[in-house]
Amino acid sequence: MKLKVGLIGAGGFGYLHLSGYKRNENCEITAVASRTEKSARKAAEKFNIPRVYWGDGWRKMLELEKLDAVSICSPNYLHAQMTLEALKNNCNVLCEKPIAISQKELYEIEKEMKSKELIFFSSFQKRYIPFISRIKEMIKNNVLGEINLVRHFFSHYGPYTSWRPLSEQKWFFDADKAGGGVLMDLGVHSIDLLRYLIGEYDRVEGYSHNTTCKKIIKEDNCNVIFRFNNGVLGTIMISWCNEPLDIIELFGTKGMLKLDLQSKEPLSYRPKKLRRNPAIKEFLEGDHSMKIIPQHLLINHFIDCILKGRQENPDFNDGKRAVEFVLEAYSKSNSD
Ligand SMILES: NC(=O)c1ccc[n+]([C@@H]2O[C@H](COP(=O)([O-])OP(=O)(O)OC[C@H]3O[C@@H](n4cnc5c(N)ncnc54)[C@H](OP(=O)(O)O)[C@@H]3O)[C@@H](O)[C@H]2O)c1
Repeated sequence: MKLKVGLIGAGGFGYLHLSGYKRNENCEITAVASRTEKSARKAAEKFNIPRVYWGDGWRKMLELEKLDAVSICSPNYLHAQMTLEALKNNCNVLCEKPIAISQKELYEIEKEMKSKELIFFSSFQKRYIPFISRIKEMIKNNVLGEINLVRHFFSHYGPYTSWRPLSEQKWFFDADKAGGGVLMDLGVHSIDLLRYLIGEYDRVEGYSHNTTCKKIIKEDNCNVIFRFNNGVLGTIMISWCNEPLDIIELFGTKGMLKLDLQSKEPLSYRPKKLRRNPAIKEFLEGDHSMKIIPQHLLINHFIDCILKGRQENPDFNDGKRAVEFVLEAYSKSNSD
């Protein structure tokens, strides 16, 4: 029997979720909800979805459709209330990032999660870039010795320039709806990926930001410096005002790795003798083209976990820690 899946938010990223579910033979998309009837119907037609809801209809969809799972792809300020309603209706949730925009919302979801045995996935698809797990393995196997510093530079020209969100509402630059600026949008991916590779972060130690290219009140460039529980120092540099770049640098006592997440040849290294390490050698000789896009791999994993009744990662705590990181950075700016 196929799992019944619904989607809230038939926008740009919602379409990517829909195409992922469409390709998964263990589920069927039975309903879609959007703010406007036009968007809901357009998605329903494109993906052959039998029932549509709009306006406040997402509540009715969760109540009536008896869904096994829902993807939440609405603007950020709606994620928490939609998640809560889904959980109350015994529905497993895949929620887009950021999963909430305040500590209060995180607390409410956590409380509801504790009373239910439901699967919750945070939409951190970068973990599913195939070579990322091999880098994690290398770190674990001490290929770089003891890691002491990591840095992630993540940028593009932002929504409406680098990509086109579909909703006519244009909510990304409204801080009340987005919950912040570029740090809330892209920074959550960055900290999640570094947590995945290095371990839990301890605290944010510094935050600098400016607004240089968008007509917004929040940041469109920022740096966050922080510390992991294991003593490693981290820096993330995030921008909506620069060329699309997604580069992680890992520094350890035996050398450094530079990972270009957008490249088919993603790895460079120092010193040259690292090439003799069998894991590095094998990586360099491997094929790193993506056969399946990371978002679809994440959706397959989510569906698989529901079928097995097993919560795996990226889970609620991963989504929560990423939002907390951003809120902690913002709190530094408020106390300036
Ligand atoms: N994981 C990633 O890498 C990634 C990448 C991009 C975006 N995202 C996340 O995905 C989410 C959506 O972003 P997007 O780029 O897809 O934006 P978008 O194209 O603007 O889509 C937003 C969708 O939400 C719908 N919506 C708004 N209010 C609603 C309501 N009250 N009830 C039901 N639906 C409602 C909109 O409906 P109408 O069209 O009818 O207005 C629209 O279909 C955001 O949380 C964003 O952070 C994640």
